[in-house]
Amino acid sequence: MRNTTHHHHCRHRHLIYYFFISLTIFPLLTTSINLITPTQFLTGNQTVISAGEEFELGFFNPGASNNWYIGIWYKKMESKIVVWVANRDSPLKNSSAILKINSDDGNLVLLDDSGKSIWSSNYSRAKSTVAELLDNGNFVLRLENDKNPENYLWQSFDYPTDTLLPGMKLGWDSKSRLNRYLTSWKSPDDPSSGDFSFKLDINGFPEIYLTRKQRIIYRSGPWNGLRFSGVPEMKSTSPFNFQFAMNRDEVYYSFNLKNESVYSRLLVIHTGILQRLTWIPTSKIWSPFWYAPRDQCDYYRECGVYGICDTNDSPVCNCVKGFEPRNLQAWNLRDGRDGCVRVSKLQCESDGFLKLSNVKLPESGTAFVDPEMGLAECGELCKRNCSCLGYSNSNISSGGAGCVIWAADLYDMRQYAAAEGGGQDFYLRVSAADSGM
Ligand SMILES: *[C@@H]1O[C@H](CO)[C@@H](O)[C@H](O)[C@H]1NC(C)=O
Ligand SMILES: *[C@@H]1O[C@H](CO)[C@@H](O)[C@H](O)[C@H]1NC(C)=O
Ligand SMILES: *[C@@H]1O[C@H](CO)[C@@H](O)[C@H](O)[C@H]1NC(C)=O
Ligand SMILES: *[C@@H]1O[C@H](CO)[C@@H](O)[C@H](O)[C@H]1NC(C)=O
Ligand SMILES: *[C@@H]1O[C@H](CO)[C@@H](O)[C@H](O)[C@H]1NC(C)=O
Ligand SMILES: *[C@@H]1O[C@H](CO)[C@@H](O)[C@H](O)[C@H]1NC(C)=O
Repeated sequence: MRNTTHHHHCRHRHLIYYFFISLTIFPLLTTSINLITPTQFLTGNQTVISAGEEFELGFFNPGASNNWYIGIWYKKMESKIVVWVANRDSPLKNSSAILKINSDDGNLVLLDDSGKSIWSSNYSRAKSTVAELLDNGNFVLRLENDKNPENYLWQSFDYPTDTLLPGMKLGWDSKSRLNRYLTSWKSPDDPSSGDFSFKLDINGFPEIYLTRKQRIIYRSGPWNGLRFSGVPEMKSTSPFNFQFAMNRDEVYYSFNLKNESVYSRLLVIHTGILQRLTWIPTSKIWSPFWYAPRDQCDYYRECGVYGICDTNDSPVCNCVKGFEPRNLQAWNLRDGRDGCVRVSKLQCESDGFLKLSNVKLPESGTAFVDPEMGLAECGELCKRNCSCLGYSNSNISSGGAGCVIWAADLYDMRQYAAAEGGGQDFYLRVSAADSGM
């Protein structure tokens, strides 16, 4: 009898013990956590959820893949839309891995089940760091007691995958010395770096290029103060606020939603399309808002040098005034890529300028920009300098300001219909005869 009571008592103690164990350990194993800290790591099917439950971070395996990755997806979406992948080019074979803070140097590290480091935030040393997933989808490594964004030690927004979220910056930052750009997944089942990238060229008058490997497919045209010169769809009536900053510290493109509860993302799809998708809550679909390349004239250098592409014309390629097709046979077979040659030679001092309206500015990676100079002065400067082949305003908002000078052959111009609201005025250097002077 006594024995049994003792046994009973003992079992009771065990139950209490298990109860406490499950209270303290079990939730950590199965539910989500708020922060990754030196004592709180992420493993298996645990996730980190942002404070307002907008985004979730955890292990995932895409589609039919057997590989595992650390990714970030929308928390409130039924289907898992992955917007960022940490270890895209170094997959895990299963989810028995851990994401933790390395107590030696404060970095985020992803360790496989043999303890080997698969991926790391690769920031230099710091003490007492934590990693937090923010409601805008940014996964940040910071000092435990310092929430100031200026002081983040590392952030996923600096290492985009294929997706630009509202508030992310695409482009150059001189402090981190990073040029942040998008690279497609290889396939829907494989987030490893694909062939297609969307990257800002900060040289000359900056513009963004969509490339396949190193080959350019499409360019946005430079930012003209209102929109990219080649993206008439960026109208001020759109649900977005587009930003482009160009100063000593940074050159970047970014966007926000006028209504912050609307979801939108810009991504480079594995098939080589740059697409902006916007969530339509009523029909529960991601609707394509815009994409590129959209038509024949969006394809890079479709009409060659001094050619101008116009989708409202047939054939789409024309030579600008004063030029004729370089390869007439190919041109007549509607291959415009050989472009055009000047008919009458330039004379320098006596040359004139032809105003082309509503055009996507020519490729501008070697152009010279003076944001202070006015258009008249810009024209004078171009006229005096015989290597100048064309000029325009650099900023067409509030009536026009700034000066851009082109001194290299002109490529990839495109004509928009006036009603489309694309492009801007561009002044092309032509011989006196062609300018009608
Ligand atoms: C988490 O993983 C464990 C073991 O792999 C599994 O038994 C459990 O059902 C999973 N929990 C959830 C919420 O998926
Ligand atoms: C996970 O994969 C590794 C090889 O990468 C293997 O050694 C290990 O047994 C696997 N673990 C499980 C739980 O399947
Ligand atoms: C970490 O950064 C250094 C220097 O920038 C670089 O050489 C190294 O390859 C990086 N390591 C990883 C794992 O990314
Ligand atoms: C263009 O001009 C507007 C109005 O003066 C100004 O607010 C804007 O910052 C300028 N944009 C750039 C990129 O310089
Ligand atoms: C913002 O979007 C949400 C969700 O689509 C909608 O319910 C709300 O009415 C919108 N607010 C405004 C001011 O348009
Ligand atoms: C003419 O313009 C080119 C290109 O902007 C520049 O490199 C060159 O120095 C200029 N020449 C003179 C004489 O100003």
